Amino acid sequence: MERAAAIIPAAQVEEQLEHCRAIAGLTGQWAGEKPLAFVDTYGCQQNEADSERVRGYLEAMGFGFTNDEERARIIVINTCAIREHAEQRVFGNVGALVHVKRRHPDTLICLCGCMVQQPHAAKKLRESYRHVDLVFGPHALWRFPEMIHTLLTRRGRMFLTPDEPGSIAEGIPVVRQDSVRAWVSIMYGCDNFCSYCVVPYVRGRERSRRPEDILAEVRQLVGEGYRDITLLGQNVNSYGKDLDEPMDFSDLLERVNAVPGDFLIRFMTSHPKDATLRLFETMARCEKVAPALHLPFQAGNDRILKVMNRKHTRAEYLEKIRQLKELIPDIVLTSDIIVGFPGETTEEFEDTLKVLEEVRFDALFTFIYSPRQGTPAASMDDPMPREEKLANFNRLTALQDRISEEKHAAYVGRTARCLIDGASDDERYDLTARTPGNRLVRVVGADARPGQFRDVRITDSNKWSLFGELI
Ligand code: 5AD
Ligand code: SF4
Repeated sequence: MERAAAIIPAAQVEEQLEHCRAIAGLTGQWAGEKPLAFVDTYGCQQNEADSERVRGYLEAMGFGFTNDEERARIIVINTCAIREHAEQRVFGNVGALVHVKRRHPDTLICLCGCMVQQPHAAKKLRESYRHVDLVFGPHALWRFPEMIHTLLTRRGRMFLTPDEPGSIAEGIPVVRQDSVRAWVSIMYGCDNFCSYCVVPYVRGRERSRRPEDILAEVRQLVGEGYRDITLLGQNVNSYGKDLDEPMDFSDLLERVNAVPGDFLIRFMTSHPKDATLRLFETMARCEKVAPALHLPFQAGNDRILKVMNRKHTRAEYLEKIRQLKELIPDIVLTSDIIVGFPGETTEEFEDTLKVLEEVRFDALFTFIYSPRQGTPAASMDDPMPREEKLANFNRLTALQDRISEEKHAAYVGRTARCLIDGASDDERYDLTARTPGNRLVRVVGADARPGQFRDVRITDSNKWSLFGELI
């Protein structure tokens, strides 16, 4: 892609901020209290990060925030398209908003994110969800203020889902949801076209933010007290391929690690085909990089990996894990797995179980295959009955539960330097914390604040989390 074409000129982002100020002028004249907005987010961390930008814009327009649809003057639903279930939930919830719109006709109902970027979903919203005022895809997010300004000053509906390779807009304000952990997008889009996945169609081509913009954001976050920073991208390992200055993800990690301050660096998601020995060596060397890697392998059988278009084999994956464990013995490993890909037999599925036994992941994100319109896998033969897929899925989760339970039990009696990140929702514990590898710890002991690194003695565990006490 043409690099210059990908970056939105600063003057155009400034125009959006002018729209915000103009809207703040309008909202300031509305009768009553400060107007409120409700932003609801489905899906992955990238969507969470996008919603933080939507909130940033809304704040600049003079809005406060609520989780009550009845009190909101603007409702934004940031949608996900990764599986059908995610779409059904959005359509269900948007359908229910028809009553809110009837009671409050001035409330603007807006939908954004990956789901609406798909032509079939945009068409359905246009034709059958007439109470929805605004629909915009990920490529148009940076123009949100301009769209809201138009809707507030003239009646009508707006659909903005341009099909384009995608862009990078710097300087959009953000309102973050947390005060200890922060997301930093380092790149957008995906070029991998795994045969089951809709992401490359809705989020466009891979494009990397400039390192100086990323570093400035990290420095600011550390200055504001953030202690756990996750670098985000669909495939962070291909960071930098499109930059004028030649650099890769390992170089970026090195530079983020050099930012002064006491904080942890995480990143996701990595693709095994681009996760290199150099990356593992960099992780081992950089003291701020957390000993954790999320490395999706999706399936354990080579034939399935090939039809998934994953571009690596099971042996290559296992070899990378071996290298990584050798360099970082206490590495915490997580992965994504799809059960029931079209044509996967139960025998082939059992190769996935073997990978679990061999690697012993700390936790897994497991999914039953969901056909996505327009992807190659959606037109593949899929003869296995749903009950058999479900039975395989249950075998997978049962095995992983056992492994997670055993791995967690091995922490008991040890002391870990944990990041306190909030109040516990379980009354027997005061706080929640995270180990460096990102395992959840419920902690007894009230004399700590979120944002502190504290030694915690692990006293108990189960398959989901650890329990401990402050030292
Ligand atoms: N069906 C089921 N799971 C999917 N994923 C992506 N596309 C699909 C699909 N069509 C899973 C993959 C990916 C994670 C984010 O979602 O495991 O790594
Ligand atoms: Fe989807 Fe594959 Fe890209 Fe991940 S790497 S977003 S699974 S196409």
